[in-house]
Amino acid sequence: MSLFSIKLENLQNLFVEQLRDLYDGEKQITKALPKLIEKANNPELKDALQEHLDVTNEQIKRLEQISHILGEKASGETCKGMKGVLAEGDSVVGDAEDNSVRDASIIASAQRVEHYEIAGYGTVRTYAKLLGKNDIANLLEQTLQEEKEADQTLSEIAESVNVEAKAA
Ligand SMILES: [Fe+2]
Repeated sequence: MSLFSIKLENLQNLFVEQLRDLYDGEKQITKALPKLIEKANNPELKDALQEHLDVTNEQIKRLEQISHILGEKASGETCKGMKGVLAEGDSVVGDAEDNSVRDASIIASAQRVEHYEIAGYGTVRTYAKLLGKNDIANLLEQTLQEEKEADQTLSEIAESVNVEAKAA
C-alpha cells in the first residue's frame, strides 16, 4: 500500500484509484515508447509510435485535468499490469534480430499495451457517466477513441510488416 492509497468503499473511490492506475500506466508508456521508436525499422511504424507518444503526453494532461476537477491527486498508484506488459514487450523486441521480425514484435507489444488501456479507459468512462460526471466522461471518451485509433493504425501497419516478417 502506498502512502496515498485509497480505501475502496464506494464507486467514487474505485474511480479515483483506477484513474491513478491509468495515470501511472501512461507515464510508463512515455518512458517505453522512445526505445521502441528507436528500435523500429518501418518508417510508418516509427511515425505511428511517435504520434502516439505525442498523444500520450496529451492524455497525461487530460488525466491531470480530471484529477484537478475531482480535487484528487493524479499520482499515487503503480500500474503493475502495465509494468508487466512493457517488460515482456521489451524482452521480446530485444530478442528479434531481423528488422521486419522486430517490427512485428514491436506491433505485438504495442497492441497489448493499447488493449490494456482500452479496457481501463472504457471502465473509467462508464464510472464517470454513472457518477454523473459528464464532462469527465467526455474527456475519458476522447482518450478511449485515441487508444482505439492507435490500435487500428497498428493493425493496418501489421498487414505489411507481418508478411515481410514471414519472408525473413
Ligand atoms: Fe494512452
